[in-house]
Amino acid sequence: MRSRSLRPRNGAAVRPLALAATLALTVAPLTVATTASAAERVDNPFVGADQYVNPYWSGNVTDAAAEAGGELGQKMLAVADTPTSVWMDRTSAIEGNVDGPGLRYHLDAALEQQQGDTPMVFNLVIYNLPGRDCYALASNGLLEPNAAGLAEYKDDYIDVIADMLAEPQYEDLRVVATIEPDSLPNLVTNISEPACQESAPYYREGTAYALDRLYEAGNVYSYIDAAHAGWLGWDSNAGPAVDVFKEVVTSTEHGYDTVAGFVTNTANSTPLEEPFLADEPFGSGGQVRQAEWFEWNRDFDELDWTEHLYSLAVTAGFPSDIGMLIDTSRNGWGGPDRPTTESTSTDLNTYVDESRVDRRTHRGAWCNPAGAGLGERPTVAPAGNPASHLDAYVWVKPPGESDGNSEEIPNDQGKSFDRMCDPTFNSPKLAGKLTGALGGAPLAGQWFQDQFEMLVTNAYPAIDGGSVDPDTEAPTAPSGLTATATTSTSVSLSWDASSDDTGVAGYTVRVDGATAATSATTSATVTGLAPSTTYAVTVTARDAAGNVSPTSAPLSVTTDEGGGTEDTEAPSVPAGLTAGAVTTSSVALSWDASSDDTGVTGYQVRRDGELVADVPGTSVTDSGLDAGTAYSYSVAAYDAAGNVSAASDALSVTTDEDDVEPGGACTVAYTANSWNTGFTGSFVVTNDSDAAVSDWELTFTFADGQQITQIWSAQAAQSGSAVTITPAAWSSTIAPGGSVSFGFNGSHSGTNTAPDDFALDGVSCDLA
Ligand code: BGC
Repeated sequence: MRSRSLRPRNGAAVRPLALAATLALTVAPLTVATTASAAERVDNPFVGADQYVNPYWSGNVTDAAAEAGGELGQKMLAVADTPTSVWMDRTSAIEGNVDGPGLRYHLDAALEQQQGDTPMVFNLVIYNLPGRDCYALASNGLLEPNAAGLAEYKDDYIDVIADMLAEPQYEDLRVVATIEPDSLPNLVTNISEPACQESAPYYREGTAYALDRLYEAGNVYSYIDAAHAGWLGWDSNAGPAVDVFKEVVTSTEHGYDTVAGFVTNTANSTPLEEPFLADEPFGSGGQVRQAEWFEWNRDFDELDWTEHLYSLAVTAGFPSDIGMLIDTSRNGWGGPDRPTTESTSTDLNTYVDESRVDRRTHRGAWCNPAGAGLGERPTVAPAGNPASHLDAYVWVKPPGESDGNSEEIPNDQGKSFDRMCDPTFNSPKLAGKLTGALGGAPLAGQWFQDQFEMLVTNAYPAIDGGSVDPDTEAPTAPSGLTATATTSTSVSLSWDASSDDTGVAGYTVRVDGATAATSATTSATVTGLAPSTTYAVTVTARDAAGNVSPTSAPLSVTTDEGGGTEDTEAPSVPAGLTAGAVTTSSVALSWDASSDDTGVTGYQVRRDGELVADVPGTSVTDSGLDAGTAYSYSVAAYDAAGNVSAASDALSVTTDEDDVEPGGACTVAYTANSWNTGFTGSFVVTNDSDAAVSDWELTFTFADGQQITQIWSAQAAQSGSAVTITPAAWSSTIAPGGSVSFGFNGSHSGTNTAPDDFALDGVSCDLA
């Protein structure tokens, strides 16, 4: 049957290097590699690029691994740094809400993960059309299908996203946008549904608007969602679907330029390939596609559908360089129930049912399908199916996030109870079959541990099958180590970049075997050396997983003689020391650059005579101070030879008074939606003090035996009625006047009084 590339790619999250700058051994300031101008548009944005790993999703996976433990936990950890898409699933997602941090957090984190000049793909989902999810209920959304909904979609959602993506610091990111899952496909097959008729004009205009504005941002590659084989594959659906896509795209201002291609199978689980089934004759005069399972649809799988779609779209006028993405996050269908061979049955339905790897009850079953597994790991330009014009396999739906709740759960996110998510329901949309959905599912988008355990267990390719190797490959040894400059006390070095399967995270320079500097780039300056002395210098490279390369060939370097050639001139005394923002606990300082014959390497900042910072630039924020206290600051400059200027004039700064009312340092707003014995609670915690609160702890008590069962955007520890909440990584600091939100699911036994005795870091809070 078809041959496929099974080569997985691991995304690599990179921690920023911590630079320990000491006076004796100073690390050269990092130079951030940027390309000269906005990156050019390329045909396939994934080629040669890394992809953003969402730390929030990875955190959920790591927590899931801790909960599962054992071999299953190990498998989870093996996929924890897989790139997944970031969903802007309602207007508030842009800023960040109880479901996680906002778009800017992710974009900044993507820049942080970027390694040198390697382009970074940021996978994004645009999902907020007015009247969203018109043929289902689980993801209905918050915008109404009317003029006001469309105005909010344009002004408060698309424009805000497009403007942010267009900010100069993000111009080199390659933003790959999945455009509005399910929306245009619903206009093809479900237009007899009143809700879809009502939404249709807004879907069309909203999609065209999104395509134009995202195109104008300059760095966005938009792929229109094109459902999956088991939805649009029939010729009677595929042709009309391409017509709708064409109508919408040609109604934009920028036409076909606005689209990079199509993405199929978003959040669905149709397999890439049915390896044991082909669209061929069966028995006497029959065809395999006539089986109940396929219902005459010739597109058995996503490779079929992308090939079919590409050919129809290009025939209809789409440019031939469009590419296809397939969401392979949950279409693996491995595990013990996966057939290993073609059935020998002579009964067509039995033959197909025994041969198919897709174990759903019906191809229309979309909600948390039991038996599914993780699919192909994200893969760039997968080989083997040229007619499909595949740009990549991507993980659009973050595995482990629910498709919808299996029972009623009140909420304020526009998510209704769709019985397609209820395992006890025989659905008319599935020819009366049971939905096959997993029970116990939370709201769409929320973490669903049971589902994730199942997906990892049933992964195909299997995770323990050698298809996801832990990153054990070390970078190559750095070569080309040379000294670019020497003084009597320092050596400047450069070397050629190492290569690595997951990318090099940084380099370590050793002098006579001792670590002398670390650098994220291929150069560094080692200072604090003795004059006329010969040193053996080596460099090693390391990757994000901590694998260290062999040591480079040693370079023997001799520092310059002291005396005549020695750099003894100290930089000029820094002038213009001033204080910028002052809070109760911090002072921002800046000063004018000093001058020096060999260049200034850095500045020492002293508070009351004590060295508190050593920085390469001309500003620093000194924090951890006491409120209402006067401090005296001075700055001195030094050069690479270690010559230090005299201290600047002293600057006296007094931190702000802590004028927090006792008991008023924080405000907590709490809302709850209760039903039977369950409830969902939401918190907004505001820091009313003048100082930022870091690594905070919120405590409170429940009066009626309530128990938190699941929490998002924070962590909870509960002992009896006492609850302690600690922040998620991105909300560990609450700025003065700032707030953080989080939510949870809980159980109660009838009475459900709001919690009480709130305290933030031990200071009691007011209840809003
Ligand atoms: C939900 C979204 C969620 C997305 C990714 C959708 O079904 O409606 O809220 O962000 O899935 O999990």
